[in-house]
Amino acid sequence: MSGFSTRAIHFGYNPAENHGALVPPIYTSSTFSFPDTAYGGRCFAGEEPGYFYTRISNPTLALLESRLASLEEGAAAVVFGSGMGAVTSTLWTLLEPGDEILADLTLYGCTFAFLQHGLARFGVTVRHVNMSDLEQVAQAIHAKTRVVYFETPANPNMRMADIAAVAKLAHAVQARVVVDNTYCTPYLQQPLTLGADVSLHSMTKYLGGHGDLTAGAAVFADAELAQRVRLQGLKDMTGAVMSAQDAHLVMRGLKTLTLRMDRHCQSAMQVAKLLQEHPKTAVVHFPGLPTFPQHELACRQMRQFGGMVAFELKGGLQAGQRFMDALELVTRAVSLGDAETLAQHPASMTHSSYTPEQRRLHGIEDGLVRLSIGLEDLKDITDDIAQALD
Ligand SMILES: Cc1ncc(COP(=O)(O)O)c(C=O)c1O
Repeated sequence: MSGFSTRAIHFGYNPAENHGALVPPIYTSSTFSFPDTAYGGRCFAGEEPGYFYTRISNPTLALLESRLASLEEGAAAVVFGSGMGAVTSTLWTLLEPGDEILADLTLYGCTFAFLQHGLARFGVTVRHVNMSDLEQVAQAIHAKTRVVYFETPANPNMRMADIAAVAKLAHAVQARVVVDNTYCTPYLQQPLTLGADVSLHSMTKYLGGHGDLTAGAAVFADAELAQRVRLQGLKDMTGAVMSAQDAHLVMRGLKTLTLRMDRHCQSAMQVAKLLQEHPKTAVVHFPGLPTFPQHELACRQMRQFGGMVAFELKGGLQAGQRFMDALELVTRAVSLGDAETLAQHPASMTHSSYTPEQRRLHGIEDGLVRLSIGLEDLKDITDDIAQALD
């Protein structure tokens, strides 16, 4: 098999089969004709692999899916119109009333809200546990647990979970392990190779990489499960279909993924060090710092330490707000993984779907500031952060 960067650029596409076109064509068609009625019937019965309607499959989406499966070392992938489309389509396929999902305490705010307002309303029991504490996980998993769900590092406090160890505990009761791998991308971390069953992405972030699309993906160790999620979760339950134009943009983003991630990671490391050495910071959460409580796990599980940094100032919430308002180059905005360095305040923005009490219990401090380190010159990023701290 060729290397990661080569597959991110070439996998699954042969220009010779497409008039020599270097860039794969964008199939915008919503529907596809049948050579005869019987063929159409076979497509609908799942007996024919052809394309028939874009909400189920489309040649441009299929190319992206095969590329993502290759990069994650999975059996198959399904793409969606957003990261939340990937989360909801997958979990609604895997869970039934009476089942239980065991999720980490810290989750992206809308995923947390979906578990609380979506799954719980339809008879699924939702339980949260600190996924970094394997003893707690072992105690919380039982026969009714059908899915174990977490992000690692988690958005926004960067807490990590040991994928291989959690997968072992979950598989002992035949529960599936679903990991949100958005923060890492398949370049930095490959949950399926560590035993997870599904690796999810908001491709709105690093995979797209340019802040100009919303998209999601789920990569599966088991191709049959991928097909179930496509035909139930995506086709019938959410309809969260991705556009072919956005699939083209994600494939353009994938071509530079490794270059961009190397730069995000290098700059984030320098920003984390600057913050840690500054007298005004109380705590810095970055897996690459030797003082990070799970630094050893990060070294084992991730290729590099990622482009996300979270921290708290000694003056708490007010100091964090003053810091954010003083930024000049760094942009105050949610999302992450873009070329631009972005700063946001989780408690009032991405994680405002938690009540203050839930945030306290789930380890999301009110003073926490989250930075997505971009691709600008490092000196310009650090100068801006330094002047805002002053
Ligand atoms: C870790 C994580 N997962 C999922 C999502 C949802 O993705 P989207 O905004 O593409 O629906 C986000 C969005 O911020 C996220 O940060």
